[in-house]
Amino acid sequence: MKFYEMAPERRRARMQAEGSLSPQDAELLARSGRLDPAVADGLIENQIGQFALPLGVARGLVVNGEPRDVPMVTEESSVVAAASNGARIAALNGGVAAHAPAEHRVRAEVVFADVLDRDAALAILSSRRRDVFDVARRAKPSIVARGGGLRDVSVEPVRDEFLKIALDIDVQAAMGANIADTIAEAVAAAAGDWIGVRALTAILTNAVPGGQAVTAEIVLDPATVACRGIAGDEVAEGVARLSRLAEADVERAVTHNKGIMNGISAAVLATGNDTRAVEAGAHAFAARTGRYRPLAVWSMEEGRLVGRIAVPLQVGVVGGATTSLPAARAAQRIARYLPDNGSTPSVAAYQETLAALGLVQNLAALRALAGPGIQAGHMALQASNLAISAGARGGEIAAVAAALQSRSKDLETAKSVLGALRSDP
Ligand code: MEV
Repeated sequence: MKFYEMAPERRRARMQAEGSLSPQDAELLARSGRLDPAVADGLIENQIGQFALPLGVARGLVVNGEPRDVPMVTEESSVVAAASNGARIAALNGGVAAHAPAEHRVRAEVVFADVLDRDAALAILSSRRRDVFDVARRAKPSIVARGGGLRDVSVEPVRDEFLKIALDIDVQAAMGANIADTIAEAVAAAAGDWIGVRALTAILTNAVPGGQAVTAEIVLDPATVACRGIAGDEVAEGVARLSRLAEADVERAVTHNKGIMNGISAAVLATGNDTRAVEAGAHAFAARTGRYRPLAVWSMEEGRLVGRIAVPLQVGVVGGATTSLPAARAAQRIARYLPDNGSTPSVAAYQETLAALGLVQNLAALRALAGPGIQAGHMALQASNLAISAGARGGEIAAVAAALQSRSKDLETAKSVLGALRSDP
């Protein structure tokens, strides 16, 4: 039986047998969906309830030679199916080669406004470089002890009005917002004293320093992208052409990137990371040339379909909700984002998996578009959603969804199928 055809408990049992899911995590996932009330209340302000979403897994995404099961949380029916499809094609071609920057850096900005003598202030701040490093070290000794900390400082005017200190910080395996904000506020206080002006703001930027991005590449035999009777060569040419369209047409680029973020955001959410930080950084990066462009591009090279992605990924595997949410921790263990040999944790494996996932997610979407169109697959998956919206519960969901496969897939039909099922069970 195929994995997607199994009941959730059989899927967990299969993953346990394969060794990608521990008995403890299987147990945790079986009863997950509700946080401990104290955890939920402690996580946000004014908590009044909980909001459950399904956690799925894209299987066997081969990244740098290692197959990974990638947990994903999403409300969109087709996302995990598309990711799994893309991962399957990638595996047929030796997988995805991905590369994360050697250091996991974030940038914080301390900005002053209305500095009367900007040249004098610039000179003072530039001459205090060493002091800035001292302040940063004292503000966050724990990150220095973990091998990270402030790496670079630059001072620059922004228009006529502002003066900015940019702080590039190695945050090791953390997402880094808290580390960066703590250091930025300490530098803001000290630098404010040096130049006699109170800082306007001191905060992390969700843009990555120096345009540092995670990259991934895949080289495909066109035969492996054949789709529903359409020859692989034709589909591959179509994928490359759709990529050129995304470069030429911003409206298409937005949807192209939305498809990429379908996968990345779902895998970011599954680990308790900040989806908005990743989305903001990705879209800003897409527009870094002054024109919004596709994050992943595809071309035919020597008879092969080659896909490349570059995307900044501001994520972490220690700290915040990535540590405090039990299901997020389980998701990280399933995908083996943290080394299990006790060596220093790093975000690289996670970032590389996310970039690879975005690339295969894009491949699955473009392949469907270049092949039979998106609705064929989408609507088949949408059937369960329609069944649930029509009021189906328990076993009725699969029965109504199955009946809808050969009928018109709309809410009215789903309701009438459900009515017929209930009157003649
Ligand atoms: C749907 O959620 C995402 C797609 O529209 C992406 C794309 O068009 O490339 C299928």
